[in-house]
Amino acid sequence: MMKTEFLKITGNAENDSAIIVKAAEVIKNGGLVAIPTETVYGLAGSALISSSAEKIYAAKGRPSDNPLIVHIAEPSDAEKYAYPNSLYYRLAERFMPGPLTVILKKKENIPDTVTAGGDTVAVRCPAHPVAHKLIEVSGHPIAAPSANRSGVPSPTKAEHVLEDMDGRIDMIIDGGECSIGLESTVIRLDGDNECTILRPGHVTADMLAEICHQVRISPAVIEPALAASEKPESPGMKYKHYAPNAELILIDADEDAFFEYVCENSDENCGVFVADEDIHRIKLAHPLPTGAKGDAAEISRRFFTLLRNADEVQLKTVYAQLPPAEGEYLALYNRIVRAAGCRILKLGKK
Ligand code: TXA
Ligand code: MG
Repeated sequence: MMKTEFLKITGNAENDSAIIVKAAEVIKNGGLVAIPTETVYGLAGSALISSSAEKIYAAKGRPSDNPLIVHIAEPSDAEKYAYPNSLYYRLAERFMPGPLTVILKKKENIPDTVTAGGDTVAVRCPAHPVAHKLIEVSGHPIAAPSANRSGVPSPTKAEHVLEDMDGRIDMIIDGGECSIGLESTVIRLDGDNECTILRPGHVTADMLAEICHQVRISPAVIEPALAASEKPESPGMKYKHYAPNAELILIDADEDAFFEYVCENSDENCGVFVADEDIHRIKLAHPLPTGAKGDAAEISRRFFTLLRNADEVQLKTVYAQLPPAEGEYLALYNRIVRAAGCRILKLGKK
């Protein structure tokens, strides 16, 4: 087991830049540092060093046929590692830095280990100042998957990373809670005016449609059955994902039917995803508060933390109402369906 250093960003310029310099040394020397981004914590290694990618797969326990995202400091840096087209630049102007990842044809300098042998590379320009500074100061593009052990909920706080990665990586930088809480939107470009969403995120189809003529959503995003299929386009969609130890039971029902079912079927070992104003509607079960009703950004921000909280208090079963598979809720829908092992309980309307 290696010693994992845990360093905290404080807002004090001297402290914080010393942390970045130290982390940049680790990256340049082929080591791994967990870093905050605006979406989730990332497990960062140099995207130019093949052995760093191998260490990332090993630390996560991740199958090495699932490619990594390469994080860059400036949108135009994509040209160093890939072949961006005009649509990439129009998207970059609107959404970068930010939670958008674009799949591009790769150049030779990105090792096959990073892209899992494929001829494309996923490029993202993170908005979080720690991620941005680390790329700049290290002078390396950074390969970074979410910093969780493979299969479990993604980390949105440094404490989550510590739970999963203590003793497995060189350093963890604590930059507080991630503001978005779900991973970036991953898209494929289809020529200069169309794109396909492979993984939904904070940048929605409607937002992309302001820039592209046509935005498609890959069927695997919505169809639970396809998520488990042999060859999805974005390999990350095929594995068991985001799952807590507790059994997550996803219920497709209107609100009244949902609360009635939950009250009839729960005891103190059960948890319920519940909007703040509905907490009074559950009885024995443990509330997992999702924020104000209708606040898609807030439930998205809290989602992975709530799953980890459920395990901390050792809940056996967690109930959640199925969110809409559209708009601002599509990213949450995509994650929660996978966290529930793609099983949905449909209740009849009263
Ligand atoms: O918000 C994020 O994107 C976070 C932070 C740390 O930046 N990173 C992240 O990485 O979520 P990861 O490895 O957990 O998820 C990357 C997703 C996977 O579903 C993977 O299959 C897909 O992107 N992906 C990566 N490279 C790809 C490629 N060349 N073609 C298709 N899909 C790709
Ligand atoms: Mg991940």
